[in-house]
Amino acid sequence: MHDFVPPFPDRPKQPLSAFATLRLARRNFLAIWEERSFEWEVFSTRMLSRTLFVCNSSDTVASAFVEHHDSFERKSPQMRHGLAPLLGDGLFISDGETWRRRRRIVAPIVHVSHLPLFAPLMVQAACETAERWANLPQEMPVNALTEMATLTAEIICRTVFGRQLGAEHAAEIVAAFSEYQRLVGQLDLAYFFGLPDWIPRFHSPAIHRSARRIHRVLEQVIGDCRERLSSGEASMIRLLLEARDPETGEPLDDVALRNEAAVIFMAGHETTANSLAWAWYLLSQAPEVEERLHAELAKALGGRQPTLDDVPELPYTRAIFEETVRLYPPVPLLARQALRDETIRGRSVPAGSLVIVVPWLLHRHRKFWGKPDHYIPERFLPENAQYRVRHAYVPFSVGPRICAGAAFGLTEAVLCLATLAQRVRLRLAPDAVVAPVCRLTLRPGDDLRMYVENRA
Ligand code: HEM
Repeated sequence: MHDFVPPFPDRPKQPLSAFATLRLARRNFLAIWEERSFEWEVFSTRMLSRTLFVCNSSDTVASAFVEHHDSFERKSPQMRHGLAPLLGDGLFISDGETWRRRRRIVAPIVHVSHLPLFAPLMVQAACETAERWANLPQEMPVNALTEMATLTAEIICRTVFGRQLGAEHAAEIVAAFSEYQRLVGQLDLAYFFGLPDWIPRFHSPAIHRSARRIHRVLEQVIGDCRERLSSGEASMIRLLLEARDPETGEPLDDVALRNEAAVIFMAGHETTANSLAWAWYLLSQAPEVEERLHAELAKALGGRQPTLDDVPELPYTRAIFEETVRLYPPVPLLARQALRDETIRGRSVPAGSLVIVVPWLLHRHRKFWGKPDHYIPERFLPENAQYRVRHAYVPFSVGPRICAGAAFGLTEAVLCLATLAQRVRLRLAPDAVVAPVCRLTLRPGDDLRMYVENRA
């Protein structure tokens, strides 16, 4: 068993006031949790004029996100208001009939059944990264976070848009998405002060500018794709253009199409990038895990590029990814607003309250995990499945709103790790500071400086 405990922010020694919590949460949501939060199973607290419920056990998670899904299907005000300029009525932030209609159309497009189309593009992009790294001077460090963001952006661009997007459009859209993420606030303070939902929130002109920039590129690519529908190239845009609602037979209109393309791009890019960056960091600190990974790759692949069919033969590579997103869930907070009065395991939850599941807490819960802060990929090997507690592991969420692209993200991570780890090792630069921080997603700071070592 491995002894490595990867970093986490200092935990407050005493409970914080509501103001102190909100202030700290704006900087780093991961830093507000005191030690005993990792033991509680459900707790509620008053935050200014609102009530906040935290579901922190398998049964409370199941109650809110599965059994009473209809009462808690609405995303939090911060999510809806923060992302509305970019995603409009897109699946990620809609609810009710709009969400159901969009989910029926979008989920089949990112579904596992389309992976044979997309997996070769994933491996090809990872090979190009390896080739670029091979030409780097040995003494020049890379920022592993940016490298992985570039790789997953390349993959999502090729799968969503097909090859015709072109490098120039791809770079523009990636830059505009990260700018949007940087600008958008983490907390809708107006909600905690009791402002009703229907009052429009202020967004800076910069946010609207970067949303417009993304919309312009998406509209252009969709227009090009429409003209070339007969060319036969596979892409998610093409699938979206051809998709019909299985219940009504209706296609998506132009704005809905653009919004759903933005959803897939946003949801599917940074999440996988962060998990891959964390995976490299963790591997660099646990040589025995890295050795076992190399042994699995040598046995299953013998130096050739992986394919989709190899994924079931790579259980340890998959376990490394699963342990990585346990310790550092790319989406560390799942937040919903109660649509009506409801009860969660006997506790009443008034309409309008915020109900949250915090994978950051749940994945390190003292009762559900042995050595919860340790890095132990073996816990995810198939032979250890019986020790896992249902609904205590939710990196992709759970219930009807579960990540539509979970199979895509998992396959992408396994194929990228397998392709790259056969060729290189990444070593942490001695002066690198690794500090988990939560913006919209959980990342290892901004600069994960690592050296690329070619494996002979
Ligand atoms: C490591 C990779 C990924 C992780 C950890 C992840 C995680 C999540 C989580 C936690 C949610 C629910 C968010 C919430 O309830 O607030 C979500 C939603 C979603 N994800 Fe992912 N995701 C990943 C990759 C992807 C990929 C690659 C795609 C698409 C290609 C994708 C598409 C979506 C979509 C469309 C939704 C919205 C589902 C709905 O609201 O019905 N995700 N994801």
